[in-house]
Amino acid sequence: MMHSLYTLHLTTFRKMLLIGMICAIVASGFIYHNLRRNWPIFILDIKYSLLAFKEIINDLMSAKKNKNDCLPQPGRIAIVTGGSRGIGVEVVKMLLELDMEVIIACRTPSAGEKAILQIRESGVETGQAKVYALDNTSLESVRQFATKIKRDYKQIHILINNAGIMFHPYFETIDGFEEHWSVNYLSHFLLTALLLPLLKAGGQPNQISRIVNVTSCAHLLGKINFDDVNNKNKFYNKCAYAQSKLAQEIFTKGLHHLLKERQYHVQVYSVHPGVVFTELFVNSYIWKYRLLYKYILKTPRQGAISIVYAAVNKAIENHGGMYISNCCPGEIHPDTLNSSIQEKLFELSLQQVQLKDFFQYVQ
Ligand SMILES: NC(=O)c1ccc[n+]([C@@H]2O[C@H](COP(=O)([O-])OP(=O)(O)OC[C@H]3O[C@@H](n4cnc5c(N)ncnc54)[C@H](OP(=O)(O)O)[C@@H]3O)[C@@H](O)[C@H]2O)c1
Ligand SMILES: *[C@@H]1O[C@H](CO)[C@@H](O)[C@H](O)[C@H]1NC(C)=O
Ligand SMILES: *[C@@H]1O[C@H](CO)[C@@H](O)[C@H](O)[C@H]1NC(C)=O
Ligand SMILES: *[C@@H]1O[C@H](CO)[C@@H](O)[C@H](O)[C@H]1NC(C)=O
Repeated sequence: MMHSLYTLHLTTFRKMLLIGMICAIVASGFIYHNLRRNWPIFILDIKYSLLAFKEIINDLMSAKKNKNDCLPQPGRIAIVTGGSRGIGVEVVKMLLELDMEVIIACRTPSAGEKAILQIRESGVETGQAKVYALDNTSLESVRQFATKIKRDYKQIHILINNAGIMFHPYFETIDGFEEHWSVNYLSHFLLTALLLPLLKAGGQPNQISRIVNVTSCAHLLGKINFDDVNNKNKFYNKCAYAQSKLAQEIFTKGLHHLLKERQYHVQVYSVHPGVVFTELFVNSYIWKYRLLYKYILKTPRQGAISIVYAAVNKAIENHGGMYISNCCPGEIHPDTLNSSIQEKLFELSLQQVQLKDFFQYVQ
């Protein structure tokens, strides 16, 4: 009895110590790196740091809930964008462990092939993996990718929109859109519209097709600037990231309603994978302290769990439109529920990708 009490106190003490250390690191990091900035940006930086802090603690506290038990699903076909590194490659690995057929969509096909080789070398023998090129900030490349998939497949069961960038400097894509907007949101909007016929074909009443958007808790700090999504004249990369992730989130909710109205056997989910140690942070001050953060943040495998949960777990089969964090419903931005904002974003996105109707490819 004495002994167990003692160990209990010791683990609580260790947790407190760890939290204290994280507080100190996060606080000193942002103070040091933000002192020279202007005021609104400074405020946003503080909000980002507080949010990151809250989420890191949440990830630690929810570690036990972050799990996905499910049976193999042979024959099901999944597409993972950005599946060659970071969280994406761990998602691919888990889906292969579930004996699925996985299509890695990535910019550099050789990187995708290498990722598959490494997964096989790590001992995963089940499932099938293929690589298709999906580049590079250009909407034309999204169209080419979808054309190739439609040539080779009659149905798809799972689409995971995972590719993403964070905190890049201002850059306009070939289509004239700011890079975060284009890579994180718009290209996935178009991809989803183009692949919807295959997802619909793959969906059954007892086994629904799923679209999973990998978003971020950063969406909570976002605001859509409908007058100028590029924000060229007052560009700040943290705003751009949050805006692109909020757009994903709003669209998840909007599309959920539209799919429900049409009674397709397709559901859409969005997932915040947690604060995960990947190269996504190369442009963040966190990268400077990466030796430390590596032990504080989630591993890519831990980050992948919620995504795979959203993609396959039966417990949420009819709960489309959900925002998931650590395999539980998470807190969402109020704008995602505002139907006038949903419609406005939908119209703007259709116009930007030059589609008349989101459902035009579905007979
Ligand atoms: N890490 C976190 O803490 C965190 C938190 C919340 C949300 N997320 C989200 O999780 C997702 C995955 O992030 P990660 O942490 O795994 O980042 P990562 O390690 O940097 O991986 C990003 C992936 O996106 C791909 N990608 C980037 N730009 C692309 C482009 N223009 N065209 C096609 N693919 C592109 C990359 O492909 P290449 O190999 O070709 O570059 C890579 O596979 C992102 O959507 C991110 O916003 C991450
Ligand atoms: C992606 O585009 C960039 C710049 O437009 C280019 O440098 C790079 O080689 C492209 N990557 C691939 C794989 O085509
Ligand atoms: C996410 O959700 C919808 C489906 O909800 C999809 O059309 C949209 O393009 C998806 N992708 C992103 C990245 O928002
Ligand atoms: C929805 O958003 C619009 C535009 O920002 C706003 O005017 C309206 O009050 C919001 N509606 C609700 C119910 O919050």
